[in-house]
Amino acid sequence: MRFSFQDFPAAQDRLRADVLAGLATRPKSIPPKYFYDAAGCHLFETICTQPEYALCRTEQALMASHLPEIATALGKVESIVEPGAGDCTKVRRLLDALRPNRLVVMDIAGAPLAASAQAVAHDYPDIDVSALAMDFLGELDAADPWLAAGPHLVYYPGSSIGNFPPAAATALLARFRRLAGADGRLLIGFDLKKDPQRLHAAYNDAAGVTAAFNLNLLARINRELAADFDLARFRHYAFYNPLEGRVEMHLASLTEQTVNVAGQRFRFDCGETLLTEYSYKFVPREFDALAQAAGWQPKAGWQHDGFAVRLYE
Ligand code: AVI
Repeated sequence: MRFSFQDFPAAQDRLRADVLAGLATRPKSIPPKYFYDAAGCHLFETICTQPEYALCRTEQALMASHLPEIATALGKVESIVEPGAGDCTKVRRLLDALRPNRLVVMDIAGAPLAASAQAVAHDYPDIDVSALAMDFLGELDAADPWLAAGPHLVYYPGSSIGNFPPAAATALLARFRRLAGADGRLLIGFDLKKDPQRLHAAYNDAAGVTAAFNLNLLARINRELAADFDLARFRHYAFYNPLEGRVEMHLASLTEQTVNVAGQRFRFDCGETLLTEYSYKFVPREFDALAQAAGWQPKAGWQHDGFAVRLYE
């Protein structure tokens, strides 16, 4: 087994600064990366099992049914880098098909990443596995010393790219371009535009799991920043905005109220919302344009029931 783990604690320690800055701006907002504490990771896994939220299941079905074609399009891959790898389940399918020499996984949630990457290293003893506990959004360049010279295949599944507004998505794709190296490639999954009612339902599941996921952000801030959000006075509010091509998730204040966070006071008007997430949906040519602006050229693509996986070089 070949495994290494590197922690970048300074890079992860931005919750306080980001939350205070986000509550001081108009509209108030908090970056969606802060959903994923232990409870948030668990709630997200449960969202993926809800009948209304097909995204994860559809991507898995697409990868399973098109894997031989994807592997042929990729050819020999020496090294895979997965930013935001979470529990490392998705990349296992690629490891089986491609048998690279090296895997580098990154995630802001260090402890679960270390455990799951170690399990990968155990199950694939021929692969050199490195786990980097880092906020790759802020600190991707810090990963450079841990990456052997490219080319790398950057794997970014799950439509996480949809959680960035277009300019930020282009900037992230450009960083992936530099990370991949001259002959590097990008295999990326994203959710497609579809019936707005279906999108609306996906973020308003009947069991209330997405609502709990959204509200957990306030519970996390209460715990970690000595805050006093009253969760009963905020409501999950999510909708598809077809003009912007995105789902918006907010937490709406049900009353006029003042909240204390890390020693600072923030006033909410009745009905005012705290923006917690955008989830952009695309048609493939829109996504190609984003990727091209970041220096990637489309090579191949696959679609299944409202989800797309595309390969760029
Ligand atoms: C992680 N990301 C792609 C999910 C999404 O659909 O934007 C997060 C999520 N938010 C609510 N439900 C799922």
